[in-house]
Formats: sequence, structure tokens, C-alpha cells
Amino acid sequence: MRVPQWIIEKKRDGQALSADEIGDFIQGYHAGEIPDYQMAALAMAIYLNGMSFEETAALTEAMMHSGKLLDTSGLSRPVCDKHSTGGIGDKVSLILAPLAAACGLAVPMISGRGLGITGGTLDKLESIPGYRTDLSEKEFLKVVDEVGCSIIGQTATLAPADKKLYALRDVTGTVPSIPLITASIMCKKMAEGLDALVLDVKTGRGAFMKTREDAESLAKNMVRVGDTMGKSVGALLTNMDIPLGHCIGNALEVRESIECLRGKVRGPLWEVTRELTAAMLLLCGKSPDWESARETLEDALGSGKALEVFRQMVAAQGGDPAVCDHPRELAAAGQTLPAPSPESGYVTDVNADAVGRAVLVLGGGRTRAEDGIDHAVGLSDLVTPGQSIEKGQALYILHGNDDKRIGQARELMRDAIQIADKKPEPPVLIYNRMMPL
Ligand code: URA
Repeated sequence: MRVPQWIIEKKRDGQALSADEIGDFIQGYHAGEIPDYQMAALAMAIYLNGMSFEETAALTEAMMHSGKLLDTSGLSRPVCDKHSTGGIGDKVSLILAPLAAACGLAVPMISGRGLGITGGTLDKLESIPGYRTDLSEKEFLKVVDEVGCSIIGQTATLAPADKKLYALRDVTGTVPSIPLITASIMCKKMAEGLDALVLDVKTGRGAFMKTREDAESLAKNMVRVGDTMGKSVGALLTNMDIPLGHCIGNALEVRESIECLRGKVRGPLWEVTRELTAAMLLLCGKSPDWESARETLEDALGSGKALEVFRQMVAAQGGDPAVCDHPRELAAAGQTLPAPSPESGYVTDVNADAVGRAVLVLGGGRTRAEDGIDHAVGLSDLVTPGQSIEKGQALYILHGNDDKRIGQARELMRDAIQIADKKPEPPVLIYNRMMPL
């Protein structure tokens, strides 16, 4: 028998753990034989001393095997998913899943809730009246088979050790660790029975990875773990200094996603979504190169096929598909308040961190895990760098339900948007592409 504290001491002293030591520890923690305080001590030792690639891969395997693996063998299409490390206004999954399905992929997407100031796909989808994110595994696979995609929340059976460890890391200052994040994300994705996976690793003020260097290391680590497990994994490193799109807040983002699926949104939101979906088509051998993948995606969008898949997914999961035709049926806030620009010029910066905080205080995010959220609140019509603006024109429209919260959000937004006389260079949206091909 391995004594847990000897394993903790070994990592504390900077030594590498064997795959068996890691496997036993995770198994013991999952079984309730190793208490939270010992797991927290090991997580802190990993946070401080890091892990080799081999240790990270072993941790991923151990957490993946703490639960069941999704059996996707009955699906006839290539099975592919995308995971984002999270950002402000990141509604890509809502557009990408039906788009990829419309192009012949099966997308069994298991998503999360908002974390910190970043929004969560589940919270967004739950602003659609009736939409269920808690399908059973059987229901989930049925929707993927019949519609092509389904988006639900984490199940109790998939990588349960990560669920327990993540909650512990959240309250012990051990979230921002590259090996721990790698294992946490990859164990869940590898349990989904995928053929391929695309990672959207976001970096900047509104992301967990603030520097390009850290984001690159995380992306490389995750791609390599996927490769070791025999999966085709690619990663795009994307800009999260500025929010993605013009709407931030749950129902508002669903509205913008539907607009995008109608082909009415171009610019950064569409470009980032298109490139991530193109990477999925490449990894699954559905397109020979980026250019033809982009053409396929433009066709799926332009023909209305992607919107139709979204409509079917919403209906199959108990949601009201009428929101696709009348997005105004989504929850709306009591007050909509335009924020007039104090001057004319060009927008040179929009701070994603400030925008995320403003939406959180409006009630669109949580301050405690058990909090509910207000789906209706947020910002819409938010300007973007490069846009010209006249004095008095709205920089954004604030959607709120509570005067005190509205005041706090306005304060947070006070210096979030910069304006100058000279038009800035367009922001770089994708810093790097790591593809295994
Ligand atoms: N998302 C996860 O699922 N796990 C992490 O550790 C960080 C972000």
C-alpha cells in the first residue's frame, strides 16, 4: 500500500511521481479513502513544483478512468468537439456545434457554467425557455445521432474525480496550474469518445491565461496529451484582450448567436467561429485544406442549414424553437440604457476584463457557486476596436434589472472603452494554430 503523505512529500520536494503513484492517489481520492486535505496538499505541491509531461498524461488518464467513457461507437459520423478555456462574450459553441453538424460531423458537446468573470455555454443555453442541459447519456446520444449535435452539462459519470478535484482547487488557490488545467480539461474531453478535438486557448485580459507564453504552453501540453492518447487534437490560440462579439450576457449572447447563424454577423465572432470549425473539418478529414473548409462553412451558413440544425437541437432538448425566429422571446431586462460616447473618433480599445466584471455585477454571472443568474442582463451593441463613433452615439446598451447593480456596472465600464482620432490597426484574432497535420 502507498502512503498518501509519502506521495505528497515526494512532489513537495520536487521529484517526479510515477504513473502508479498518481493513479493510486486519484483512485483513493475518488473512492473517498484520501481526504480533501491530502488532495489539496498534493494539488498545491503540483501548483508549486509543476509536473513533467509524463506525469500530466498519467494524471489525465487516472481522472478519465475515474468514471465511465461515453460510447459513441453507434454514431456513423466522425465524432468531434471543441473546448474553450473561456472568455468574455465567447458564444462560439452555440454557433460552431450546429455548423459542424451541418457539415457532417457528430458533436457531443459537454459544456460548463460560467467560471470567474467568463461566461458559460450552459448558462447561455438555459436562457432559452424549456432547454434542458441535463439529458441522460442515452438521450444525449440520441440527439447527437438524430440532429448531429447536442450540448449538455457535465454528467455524474464522466470523469467524476475531476469534478471533485476542480471544486477543491477552486477554493485552495490551485486553479491556474498548467498541468492541473491540462489534466482537468483533457480527462473530460477524452472521456467523450471523440475522434478529434479542437482547443480554443484564449489569452489576454479576459482569459485565465493572461500571457501568450502561458497560453502556448497550455495549448502544447493539451495537444501532446491528446496525441499520446491516440486522438487528433489541434489548438488555436485566440485573442481575449477584447470581448468576442457585440453582446455580453446570457440571453443577449443567444440572440447574437442566432443572428450569426442567420449569416448576419461578420467580423471577429464569425471569423473565430469559422476558423475553429474549419479546424474540426480538417482534423476529421472532411476538408483537405483551410480554404475549402471555409467555403464549406460559408455554404452551410448561407443555405440556412446550420440554423436549422440549431433549431432542431433546441427542440430536441425541450427548448422553444420559436426563439430562432423571434429572439425577442428570450428574457429581456427591465431597463435598457444606452451609454453615449463623450467624444467622436475611433474606438481603439475595449477592455474584456472590465466588460466581464460589469456583466457579472449586473447579475449575469455568479459570485458564489450556488448563486442563480439573471439571464436577461448584460451589454448589447458594444463597440469594437476600429469602429468610428460620433459624440453622443451609444458605446453600448446596458440591460439591467436593479439600480444599484446598474450603477456599479457603469462605474466598471467608465474607463473600459478608449477612443482616439487615429484609426487603429485591426486586432489580431488568432495568434497561432497548432495542428497535428
Ligand atoms: N476548465 C476546466 O475544465 N478545468 C480547469 O482546470 C480550468 C478550466
